[in-house]
Amino acid sequence: MAEKEGIEKLIRADLAGFGGYSAATSPETLEGKVDVPVESIIKLDANENPYGCSPGVNRALAAYPHFNIYPDDGQTRIRKLLAGYCGIDAKHIVAAGGSNQLIDLILRLFLNRGDEVAVFAPYFWEYRFYVSNHGGVLREFPSDERFYPDLEALEARLSPRTKAVIINSPNNPTGAMYPKGLLRGLGQVLQKKEAQFGHPIFLVSDEPYRKLVFDGLECPPVFHNHPRTIMVTSHSKDLAIPGERIGYIAVHPICDGVEELVDALGHCNRTLGFVNAPALMQRVVAALQGVSVDPMEYQKRRDFLYGHLVGMGYSVVKPQGAFYMFPKAPIEDDVAFCAELARHRVLTVPGRGFGSPGYFRLAYCVEERTLEGSLAGFRAAARRFGLG
Ligand SMILES: Cc1ncc(COP(=O)(O)O)c(C=O)c1O
Repeated sequence: MAEKEGIEKLIRADLAGFGGYSAATSPETLEGKVDVPVESIIKLDANENPYGCSPGVNRALAAYPHFNIYPDDGQTRIRKLLAGYCGIDAKHIVAAGGSNQLIDLILRLFLNRGDEVAVFAPYFWEYRFYVSNHGGVLREFPSDERFYPDLEALEARLSPRTKAVIINSPNNPTGAMYPKGLLRGLGQVLQKKEAQFGHPIFLVSDEPYRKLVFDGLECPPVFHNHPRTIMVTSHSKDLAIPGERIGYIAVHPICDGVEELVDALGHCNRTLGFVNAPALMQRVVAALQGVSVDPMEYQKRRDFLYGHLVGMGYSVVKPQGAFYMFPKAPIEDDVAFCAELARHRVLTVPGRGFGSPGYFRLAYCVEERTLEGSLAGFRAAARRFGLG
């Protein structure tokens, strides 16, 4: 025991506080721990495509001839192809192992101990880890009733220690997609604050769900609103290959020092020791820009679940993209409410896991019959807490 305590002391205090990573509960880990058959559990707490990856991925994999060579650390081919797709120069693009790694790299580059990064609640909780990895402080700002960032609060409370603001649209956990006017307003606030503080503030736009939008809408581009914008994306969701760890960033071409910045990001990537974005996946996704799993499949599920939940009396903002919904819990205690749903075999995630207690997140990227099976649980919980 004494030895264990000694070892624990070696862990950096800011990391020790986080505890272990717990992925959404997998059916295998429930085996033997629940008194119903594992197959009957309705998992709306994960975020994977139920039908597998985009078929183009399998074709590109079958044709891949280069297992015997190291990846090109200049990422020449993928950057060129991405450049064609994004309409910006290859030298403003860096690929790496998914959005998470890219956000970590960006913060690695900019944060000194005590520097701040602003986010709008509810937000993807893992941002906390990447900010804390580099001694930064995450500052939460509110969103309005549609889950759009509250720009007045941002303008009033942004501190001179702020190095970056992270946004995510379409959003996990709400499915909200930020309109053009809001992005314009955000750019204006950031530029006003830059002038006031006398240093740049980066807008980091995390966009893994950009291609998963509904109702014939398009996700407005983030560039044009703020010169110091870095767009981060990955193929975990649009090609449904989250296990393969591939994504890229594009830095706004008019950002001061854009080439130095991109070089520094590439250098940071190398010095991690992981060498590069996976070679195989560089080739696979380069051939699949513009391709996506079918967002209509998710739209169909959104319509089904939204209609039923609203009919039962739940208060829900209709999502415009991604594959999440963030209803209000009918009682204040979102953890207790999710526990009640779990008693009916429906697994969801409490809103406080995204910085917004009083709500719960469900992911409707599941088979349709799973969603149908969830309704009885939602109905029973609604009745228990007097909705409808
Ligand atoms: C908002 C958001 N950002 C980043 C990620 C991580 O993406 P990646 O698999 O590309 O690291 C996720 C995954 O669920 C997410 O929802």
